[in-house]
Amino acid sequence: MRTYSLHPESIRNLFDHIAPTYDLLNHLLSLGQDLYWRKKAVQELNGLEGWILDIATGTGDVAIEVIRQDGYHRKVFGLDFCESMIKRAQQKVSGKGLSQRIGLSLGDALSLPFRNNTFSASMIAFGLRNIVEKEQALSEMVRVVKEKGKVIVLEFTFPQKGWMRRFYPIYFQRVLPWVGGFISGDRGAYAYLPESVSHFGSVESYEEVMKKVGLDNVHSRPLTSGVVSIIAGIKKCG
Ligand SMILES: C[S@@+](CC[C@H](N)C(=O)[O-])C[C@H]1O[C@@H](n2cnc3c(N)ncnc32)[C@H](O)[C@@H]1O
Repeated sequence: MRTYSLHPESIRNLFDHIAPTYDLLNHLLSLGQDLYWRKKAVQELNGLEGWILDIATGTGDVAIEVIRQDGYHRKVFGLDFCESMIKRAQQKVSGKGLSQRIGLSLGDALSLPFRNNTFSASMIAFGLRNIVEKEQALSEMVRVVKEKGKVIVLEFTFPQKGWMRRFYPIYFQRVLPWVGGFISGDRGAYAYLPESVSHFGSVESYEEVMKKVGLDNVHSRPLTSGVVSIIAGIKKCG
């Protein structure tokens, strides 16, 4: 079994290996909920127009959803540091005829290749837990957004109450690595997922860093009993 760590090179290798089955396993392991989670995160844009940045875009599902919700007034730039994932995003985007509205490129979340105050909003879905330097990644997301622009994070979190709180660890630590490993052929990649969430799984920990990097009105919204959460804030003026 391959083992992975939070080292960037290791994360890049992980996504390189699982890219061919990434979309299928996302839908299967989340029982189709991942589509709903991204839809809700994009709704947080709340009518924002102009350029939207999707960091750790992976196979491009958030970028595509941003255009699906308002294809007339928005353009998206999707960025990821894994070539195999970006290639898949490019295939999907051109297959849907969206190449004029969605630009894609290789790039690192820790050093965004954009000027200050460029985007109306920046988003990251299921990417931040893979990044050790969360404060640096979030600072970059704030830097490239215009004043009063939005920063939106969608991430796995720990359910706080109800039956899901008891069921979730069993599913996450036993079922998910087994099914993910069986289909992708890389059990280590899907054993790593629960581990990555355990490093930084509370909504409060995300909120704290988001306030620290200069966001106002930081608020969160649990989805599916808190299995994932949307955490968002607005860039301060001045
Ligand atoms: C779980 S996938 C999420 C993909 C997509 N956002 C989604 O909703 O399906 C995480 C992605 O983060 C990317 N990633 C991790 N660390 C990164 C970094 N430092 N810079 C850019 N991309 C990164 C990985 O290559 C991978 O494609």
